[in-house]
Amino acid sequence: MQYTQTAKKLTAEEKLRLLVSFGTRISSEIRLDHLLNSIARQIAQILDVGRCIIFLIDPDREELWSKIAQGKGLAYTEIRMPLTTKGIISHVAKTGETINLQNAYEDPRFSMAIDMVTDFRTHSLLAVPLKNNTGKVLGVFQVANKADDLPFDRNDEGILLLLSTLASSSIEIATLYQELYGAQLETLYRLAITAEYRDQQDTRSHLKNISIISFLLAGTLGMPKHEAEIIKNASTLHDIGKVALADNILLKPGKLTPEEFEKMKEHTIYGGKILEGAKSKILQVAYKMSMYHHEKWNGKGYPKGLKGEEIPLEARIVTVADVFDALCQFRVYKDAWKTQDAYEYMLKESGHSFDPRVVAAFKKIYPAIRKLYSHIPVNQMTGPFPGDENIPTENTVIRMTQQD
Ligand SMILES: [Fe+2]
Ligand SMILES: [Fe+2]
Repeated sequence: MQYTQTAKKLTAEEKLRLLVSFGTRISSEIRLDHLLNSIARQIAQILDVGRCIIFLIDPDREELWSKIAQGKGLAYTEIRMPLTTKGIISHVAKTGETINLQNAYEDPRFSMAIDMVTDFRTHSLLAVPLKNNTGKVLGVFQVANKADDLPFDRNDEGILLLLSTLASSSIEIATLYQELYGAQLETLYRLAITAEYRDQQDTRSHLKNISIISFLLAGTLGMPKHEAEIIKNASTLHDIGKVALADNILLKPGKLTPEEFEKMKEHTIYGGKILEGAKSKILQVAYKMSMYHHEKWNGKGYPKGLKGEEIPLEARIVTVADVFDALCQFRVYKDAWKTQDAYEYMLKESGHSFDPRVVAAFKKIYPAIRKLYSHIPVNQMTGPFPGDENIPTENTVIRMTQQD
């Protein structure tokens, strides 16, 4: 993480105050990315350095990894390197020793790879181990470029070690939380695939497109980011009720008879039954989506014929995402529509099939959607949360090798 040192310098008293409140201020953050960001920012302020990077050990892959924000609006870049590299970070991680260099470029163990990718020039460098309370090394705190080109002294070493000790339990908790949350999302996603896979080959792109569009719509409609995230993750389950449909209905190659179509409609009711009474917030939202994603704004949808705002907003959002994506995809019974034609259809159906507010939001995010459908990597898009890492991204990962 890179900081400009031209900002107002803190007095010794202000730094001391920051140091004292450090533990309290990080203990409330449970999201690992945000926590590491916040720790790095505070350390950079307290020690008055140009950069602070926190590397964590990924024991499964035997790698060290970190994320560096590369500037406003850009996705986080993830750096990964094998634990066995000969570099400074791996040395600290393996030995638990501190390394303090006055001029990093003069040390043969220093790799310039990160500097090159992030357009940064490291001068002085201090790296200390991040240990938990049993003494196990969890990662490495690295700071670089002390203000006024001064070398790091014993005092700095002591402060950085103290800060890493204070941060370790928050990092451990956030890591655990992330693993649990990740496992929950993976389970939901695989469940969603199970439902969609029966009648679609392009399940993954359908689910990905729907979740991204739903997320962007929620943000544009003014929902806070954590709610938009819930919408994003719940949206993949909108057709979960299909698991209960008979093969002769779901997989029928030709047009359904009116009776068969009535059966097909029941996937909404089945979805509702599967998710009814859920305890988790994501599943509660998924319940509304699966139950009501075929309702129409004009009351002519199913299963209940709800009208206007009687339809839960979450369902009105996923409906727009689902219909648009379905139009753009190839199906045995229809060709894939051109993105522009599908877009015009959505506008035309505003106030009929769809909530006009959601369609207005759809219109606003359409430039991003066009990019999504022209296969531009989604992490290069800008979205409705200005200046934030707002799009569900596939991380940019920089892989360092044994030699780095
Ligand atoms: Fe459906
Ligand atoms: Fe769908």
